[in-house]
Amino acid sequence: MELPYAEPYRIKTVESIRRSSRAEREVWIAAAHYNLFNVRSEQVFIDLLTDSGTGAMSSAQWAEMMLGDESYAGASSYYKLKEAVKEVMGFDYFLPAHQGRAAENVLMSALIGPGREGKGKVVPGNSHFDTTKGHIENRGAHAIDCTVDEAFDPELDRPFKGNVDLGKLEKVFKEHRREDIPFCIVTVTCNTSGGQPVSMENIRAVSALCRNYGIPLFLDAARFAENCYFIKTREKGYADKDIRDISREMFSYADGATMSSKKDGIVNIGGLILFRDEEMWRRCSTFNIMYEGFNTYGGMAGRDLGALSVGLREATELSYLESRIGQVAYLGKKLVDYGVPVMRPFGGHAIFVDAKRLLPRVPREEFIAQTLGIEAYLEGGVRGVEIGTLLADRDPDTRENRYPALELLRLAIPRRTYTNAHMDYVAATLANVYERRNSIVHGYRIVREAPILRHFTVELEPARS
Ligand code: F0G
Repeated sequence: MELPYAEPYRIKTVESIRRSSRAEREVWIAAAHYNLFNVRSEQVFIDLLTDSGTGAMSSAQWAEMMLGDESYAGASSYYKLKEAVKEVMGFDYFLPAHQGRAAENVLMSALIGPGREGKGKVVPGNSHFDTTKGHIENRGAHAIDCTVDEAFDPELDRPFKGNVDLGKLEKVFKEHRREDIPFCIVTVTCNTSGGQPVSMENIRAVSALCRNYGIPLFLDAARFAENCYFIKTREKGYADKDIRDISREMFSYADGATMSSKKDGIVNIGGLILFRDEEMWRRCSTFNIMYEGFNTYGGMAGRDLGALSVGLREATELSYLESRIGQVAYLGKKLVDYGVPVMRPFGGHAIFVDAKRLLPRVPREEFIAQTLGIEAYLEGGVRGVEIGTLLADRDPDTRENRYPALELLRLAIPRRTYTNAHMDYVAATLANVYERRNSIVHGYRIVREAPILRHFTVELEPARS
């Protein structure tokens, strides 16, 4: 028989985690104002809040932490990272930043403006990540979602549901003046629409369209390696190609990229801004020096640059990606076997539970996905994250709640961190909530919220009281 995937590593260091009781969790979640971001991590048994900065570094990465020097300018680890960026992504120019949103801030300061210069401007893309959208909207501009319609049907099993709808994109290009479209951004894989990949064919076509209209194309490359794996396994013509060849081809269609290295860089902190040409790099470097740090460290320590240089290579090893994506699919399949409704196909970094179908009795005004997140926490001490109305936030002009097409609970799997026994526990937790779904009829209402990115700090109370 064909041998299954197995992790291409063994475990050398472990961190203890503790199971708590439901009674303890009831107290903790109330004290956290029913916001899972406010719960202390020691009050969580299995933490699937995010796959960002939560992965396990390899012994090779830890060794690099010691080897890197801490020079303000020109550290050896900077040059190691420069080599890795060229080898894995094909870019000659880059700036380090302390994380992904900082990279976005620098890029948008250069391309939109550092203040409110975005008024009347639009940035099209495929379901922009929330900080990307936050940076666009905070400058007075609008993010326009041009994702293919099939992304919004959670049951539809299609290989590239992260794709950009070329018709929608061209409409934006036609309806706005060239100078009002500072750039287009394509997120690979698309976190907001379920960790779904974008095909090479689509990236190539978006690139050609952008070029026709003279609009720069950037990739949000937080999970670029996972996207490359899906291209290799799902797209015709790529089965025999090396992940790094696929990666370099994918980036070759873009003028640059931002990256949160906390995902496919497998480091705990860090970000990158990547550029094809020197001129754009120069424009951004002024802002990078102001906001992040000098060009050769940009908000990162020398040791972290070194760990990232190793992480980029490890994340683009096929055996690693097989076990990574394999574990996410393992959880997905378990949930399906229990009847729990999840988004299809399974995402690269997470399983997205369809909260509207799991909790059909909770009204949308009471935050369905958030309610499911709280139930999963109460049931088993499992922490996921709401991708629903709280995250969608209010319309910046009308201040009305924006109700997204999908209400999802994201169970994001940290890289190289949990075993499949943990996945079994998570699946059983969700299965138990599903079992008692008809008794869950009320959600939550907002007591306090911030004017932007409200989901991080929102305070809630049960709606029934
Ligand atoms: N882009 C994407 C696609 C992301 O998923 C994230 C972060 C960012 C940009 C911002 O990067 O956190 O390093 O500043 N996503 C995390 C998550 C937080 O949980 O999905 P950051």
